[in-house]
Order: sequence, then structure tokens, then C-alpha cells
Amino acid sequence: MELCMKVNLEEAIEKIKNGEVVAVPTETVYGLAASIYHPLAIQKIFSLKNRPPKNPLIIHYANLEQLKELTEFIPDQYYKLKKLIPGPLTVVLQANPKTVNQVITAGLETVALRMPMHPLLLELIEKAGPVAAPSANLSGKPSATRAVHVENDFGENISVLDGGHSQKGVESTIIFLAEDHWSLLRLGAVSEEEIESLLGTRPRNKIITNDNQPISPGQLYKHYAPEAKLILCARNMDLNDMAQEHEVDLVLGYEDSKTNYKTLSLGRRNDFVENLNRLYQKLREIDLCDANKVLVDFDFKKEGLGKTLEDRLIKASNQ
Ligand code: TXA
Ligand code: MG
Repeated sequence: MELCMKVNLEEAIEKIKNGEVVAVPTETVYGLAASIYHPLAIQKIFSLKNRPPKNPLIIHYANLEQLKELTEFIPDQYYKLKKLIPGPLTVVLQANPKTVNQVITAGLETVALRMPMHPLLLELIEKAGPVAAPSANLSGKPSATRAVHVENDFGENISVLDGGHSQKGVESTIIFLAEDHWSLLRLGAVSEEEIESLLGTRPRNKIITNDNQPISPGQLYKHYAPEAKLILCARNMDLNDMAQEHEVDLVLGYEDSKTNYKTLSLGRRNDFVENLNRLYQKLREIDLCDANKVLVDFDFKKEGLGKTLEDRLIKASNQ
């Protein structure tokens, strides 16, 4: 029996226009979407996810006209990023208070904005207008990269537009963009190096501001964690020794991980596109196996998208 309600594009568009919440596919992870013109539907997203109200949402738009309605000011630097837009990059700009409800921004003066690349979602936004959408998972849990993951988290409460397996499998990179500088707020599907090469400057801040205040509120909360405890096995440690010492049930590793324990594989070591694409599926599989403790093979290059993999594994192991 199917628990969730699968809807087609036309039905999804009607539901969004009518102020309902619909889970939608994106190229990064599935989102739980509502029209920005329906504040009650936006509030429903927070309660469905059990999301802290102080953690703002990303608005997804489909074209430049929509973007111009949502922000007071588009810095010239934005246009240098056009190779990544549409795509898995979220840009934080000054919010236009006339169009952007405070519920979405959690009272901030800025708003996070992303033009997604998934054709179904782009068409939905073209026809129904911009949507606010966090990742379609229960707060704190691994994100959803398939329609069935949304169903596992929300059951029959949710309509789902099935757009297949998310192409990237990890969330967008988030940056703050001003006229003459930029900051990195969340690592994600685009590497810092790629943004740096397009903008021609290094980020001014990384993740945390000088006052030690996170400038992206989401960094404060628990994230991506399965029920099982993850233990990171650093490069100089032996996987089998660590596995035995911690009495783990499984290893989360790579095709070439040298261990006698049952291993869930993220694919080829240091193939970060593949590793990130599999990550949330594997974190969810860990819970399906009823594992209590899992050892993570943490021996990979911490550069480029390797930094995103590092970030997600560290967060998933913090419980
Ligand atoms: O790939 C993605 O970004 C996915 C898909 C659905 O688009 N969305 C996603 O949303 O990951 P969510 O809600 O799980 O994460 C959004 C992050 C949160 O950490 C939030 O704090 C941050 O964006 N954020 C939202 N508005 C912000 C703002 N004005 N300034 C700084 N950070 C902001
Ligand atoms: Mg999320």
C-alpha cells in the first residue's frame, strides 16, 4: 500500500496555488514546498518538519523577474555566477519586505534564494510562483533524495511530486553576496573553489562570523543524523581495530575499505560526486539495518567537494 499521495505536475501546481504543502523534487534533495503567498502553508511546513521557527527557509524562483520581486538589490557579482544558476547554489541577498514574509526569513532582513535546475520544479514555479522549501525530512534527520524517503518521514500527511532520484544528493551551497565581497554560509553541492574562481575573490567569512555568531541560523541545529551512532575513523587508525574496540555493527566506507565487517559503500574513494550522491541513501539504510553503532571510513581528501562530505559526516556523527 502506498502511504504518501503521489501527485502529477498539474495537481501539484493546483495544490501549491491553493495553499497546500507539496514535497517536490530538486536536483539537490527533495524539498517541502509552499507558496510564498500563503503564510499559513509556510507555517505548516515548520510544524510538519518539527523545525525551529528561528531557522529560515530558502525561496526557490524560476526566472530573473521573480528574483527582482524578492530582493531589494541584486549585486553585479550575482551575474558572474550564471554558470551555477539555475543550479545547486543558494544566494543570500537583502529581502524585499513587501513580497517576502517574515515567517520565511525568521525575522532576518536577508533572504536565501535559489533557482533550482529540476525541470518539473522549474515548471511548477513558473506557473504557481515562487515557493519556500526546506529539505523534505524530519528536522535533524538525513535529507530525502527519493520520493520514498519523504514517505518514510511523513507518511500519508504529504503529497509528493515524484521526480526520480535527486541528481546531486546533497544540499545546495549557500553564500552571502554583497557588492564587493562574499561569505560561505553552508558547504554543499558546489565547491568553494568553483565559486571563488567565478567571483575572482576568496570568501570574507567561512561559516561563522567574527563575533562567533553563526550567520546561517541552520548551522546551530543538529543535522543529517541517523538513529545509529556514527564513529569517525581517522586516516592513521586501523578500521578493523577500531570496529572491534567500539563494537560496531557496520562500516560506512568505500569499495576499497579494508575491513572484515559488513560495509555500506559510498562508491569509489575520493569520487565525491558519487559519494555525496549516495550519502543520504546510505545513512537511511543504516537505520533500516537496525544498526546501533557504525564506523565511518574517514580517510579521504578534505578538498573541493571532499570538504562537503567531511562537513556532513561530522554533523551526522554529532548527536
Ligand atoms: O539544496 C537545498 O538547499 C535544499 C533544496 C530543497 O533546495 N534546501 C535546503 O533547505 O537544504 P534547508 O531548510 O534544509 O536549509 C536551508 C538553510 C538553513 O541552514 C537556513 O538556516 C539557511 O538555509 N538560511 C535560510 N535563510 C537564510 C538567511 N537569510 N541567511 C542565512 N542563512 C539562511
Ligand atoms: Mg535541511
